[in-house]
Amino acid sequence: MNEGQPSRTAIGAAGYRAAHQLLDQGSVFRDPLARTILGAEGDAIVAGLSADAAQQPVRMFMAARSRFAEDCLHAAVSRGVRQAVVLGAGLDTFSLRSPYAEVGLRVFEVDHPATQAWKLQRLAQVGLTPPASTTFAGVDLERQPLGPALAAAGIDWDRPTFFFWLGVVPYLRREAVLATLGFIGGLPGAEVVFDYSEPLENFPPQRRAEMQALAARTAAIGEPWLSHFDPAALSDDLRNAGFDLIEDLGMGDIAARYLGAPGQPSDAGPGPHVLRAAVAP
Ligand SMILES: C[S@@+](CC[C@H](N)C(=O)[O-])C[C@H]1O[C@@H](n2cnc3c(N)ncnc32)[C@H](O)[C@@H]1O
Repeated sequence: MNEGQPSRTAIGAAGYRAAHQLLDQGSVFRDPLARTILGAEGDAIVAGLSADAAQQPVRMFMAARSRFAEDCLHAAVSRGVRQAVVLGAGLDTFSLRSPYAEVGLRVFEVDHPATQAWKLQRLAQVGLTPPASTTFAGVDLERQPLGPALAAAGIDWDRPTFFFWLGVVPYLRREAVLATLGFIGGLPGAEVVFDYSEPLENFPPQRRAEMQALAARTAAIGEPWLSHFDPAALSDDLRNAGFDLIEDLGMGDIAARYLGAPGQPSDAGPGPHVLRAAVAP
């Protein structure tokens, strides 16, 4: 990220969710605040994304990863989990929409301090008030350990915790990703949902070119992709970090589960993944 500047890719991710509401009627992921949180520039952002048909697969992946994560949280809340952390929250609106405040779910939003300060300003500008169930903690995941920062914000590490970590892993160095996973993997009953990309050399030539173009666009705005993971090696890393259950959805699994695609999940080949990993209580 650019030093002292809020994340620009956070605007892009929120833009895709808003475009999904408009172009796909929120068919995979309903987010009634997605457009609101984009503020005055929202119509231009959504129009820009809508004009380019080539953006459709990215938009649907972004919708599916949020849907998967919120479905996993729903199951966790049903099991009694009452703490959720949104890591690298950007303009994610879950904390503002949480239907679980009345059952006592506390939400901790963690982000790079510059992005979080900007989000808080943005919320005030668009008239969205964070509920009392939400606590904000500015943390640079490249430089600060998560545990003490969230303890200072009031989290209770003796209670099971659910972690959203969407759209963040590629922007962190591998060491920072593994340090955070190592911390979460040491928490009994914890669960994390995150997305990642395979190394570009795994991709067939045409998709590799598309991914290289996307990587070049994020690098050009100062947020290069710093880490990729091979699915089999990542699974080993997660088990070594303490996770007992791993569910890793590739493109084909996502298409079959959320987009009504015909064919076998394994047909789609390499691409982005969304994964949940849980620690036994
Ligand atoms: C592409 S945005 C995704 C935002 C949000 N999770 C979403 O899906 O809309 C990337 C997010 O990662 C955060 N991020 C990047 N580097 C970070 C770091 N070193 N520490 C904490 N957050 C970081 C950015 O501030 C930004 O909110």
